[in-house]
Amino acid sequence: MLAIRHATHADAPAMADLINAIIKRGGTTAYEDLFDAETLAAEFIDLPQLISCFVAEADAALAGFQSLFRSFEDDDPFPADWGIIGTFARVGGTRRGVGSALFAHTVEIAPSAGVTTIDATIRADNTGGLAFYSRLGFVDYAVIRAKLLKNGTPVDRIRKRFDL
Ligand SMILES: CC(C)(COP(=O)(O)OP(=O)(O)OC[C@H]1O[C@@H](n2cnc3c(N)ncnc32)[C@H](O)[C@@H]1OP(=O)(O)O)[C@@H](O)C(=O)NCCC(=O)NCCS
Repeated sequence: MLAIRHATHADAPAMADLINAIIKRGGTTAYEDLFDAETLAAEFIDLPQLISCFVAEADAALAGFQSLFRSFEDDDPFPADWGIIGTFARVGGTRRGVGSALFAHTVEIAPSAGVTTIDATIRADNTGGLAFYSRLGFVDYAVIRAKLLKNGTPVDRIRKRFDL
């Protein structure tokens, strides 16, 4: 049974562990640097551009989290009424409805922040992530070609949108 609620600072260590396992496994998230509780909170809890960050718990253990935030990269601006989404389910705990359950909450809160469109920018090699957002109803609208990973490998990014 999943319980969904807003993330708090107390969640930061478990959220860091969860996303670090995804980063270490490689090939999906665009994040490449590992988090600690402090940097995790700065990115997903205290970010000034944050709209929401929900956590999913199963039997009181963190099963995943999903954030929605406004653009904060000067070289990659978005319209003011767009939010950008990121979703992370525990390694070994995917395909159990965690991401979908989180999205039901994100999509409910987004309009109250004036968001009319949600962007998901996904690595082109992240077939699971692409399938997940497509299943939720996101549609392709742009491709960023050959964005370099830290090791210099070029990877395309697929941009998907969900119109509320
Ligand atoms: C992408 C991710 C968030 C999906 O979370 P999840 O909890 O497994 O998603 P759900 O169980 O709610 O999946 C809902 C549907 O999406 C589709 N889907 C999800 N993952 C999929 C995969 N790996 N391959 C194919 N379809 C997938 C399926 O249709 C699934 O329904 P089904 O299992 O009944 O067939 C999760 O795999 C993850 O954390 N990946 C690593 C991080 C990442 O890539 N995040 C996305 C970029 S921010």
